[in-house]
Amino acid sequence: MIENKNKFSIGGELFELNWRFWGFVLVLLLSAAALYLYPVGEYQGYVDPFYSPTVLVLPFVALFRLSCYAYRKDYYRHVFKHPMACLNDDRMDSSKRVYSGETGFFSLNNFHRYFFYIGLALLPFFYYDFYVSMFYTSGFFIFRLGSIIILANALLLTFWTLSCHAFRHLIGGYADCYSCLSGGNTRKKIYNGQSWLNLYHEQFAFISLLVVVAVDLYIRALMAGWPVDFTFLRIAI
Ligand code: FES
Repeated sequence: MIENKNKFSIGGELFELNWRFWGFVLVLLLSAAALYLYPVGEYQGYVDPFYSPTVLVLPFVALFRLSCYAYRKDYYRHVFKHPMACLNDDRMDSSKRVYSGETGFFSLNNFHRYFFYIGLALLPFFYYDFYVSMFYTSGFFIFRLGSIIILANALLLTFWTLSCHAFRHLIGGYADCYSCLSGGNTRKKIYNGQSWLNLYHEQFAFISLLVVVAVDLYIRALMAGWPVDFTFLRIAI
């Protein structure tokens, strides 16, 4: 029986379908299949984000995503039912399983901060791809629609990475007293700025994933001969 658009019951047991999480799983599977069966790499100066800087970093990028708090929330609450939300009665089935925190296998998610360092180190490559997209033909500066899309991808990945909870801790979340630290006022301002960005972390997490896939599809469409690119500016240098 359908109870609402996301919940349904089978034999009296209530289940919740999380479109966002299963959408993420679908994107991962389709991307893996596309990368394996139809590799792209680079086309007309556009570097596919899955290959930036190399496809070899993808396992680390996937672990960075999988251990992100935004994705954790979905699979903890809607897939594994462990740990359930501690304060949300609607999602907590306390008669069967009480809140127990991130224990057992999920304590591996504590490595997230290390995957964050890798994610941070990868960011410059996406801006380099933007640069390459404009100077890929020797002797010319060319500004095309694809460059804007690649820049949007780099910015969204930057917002997602810099709004990370682990980063929030690193830049000041650990501090009990800012006035006791050198440059405390400045550090507090930076921390406050990151805290504002952190409010939108979930949105950045999911939109950035969709845009990565969109850039990949865009480049594939160009390779297939679709007229989806547009040149705004072409200057000899
Ligand atoms: Fe989402 Fe760190 S919590 S990237």
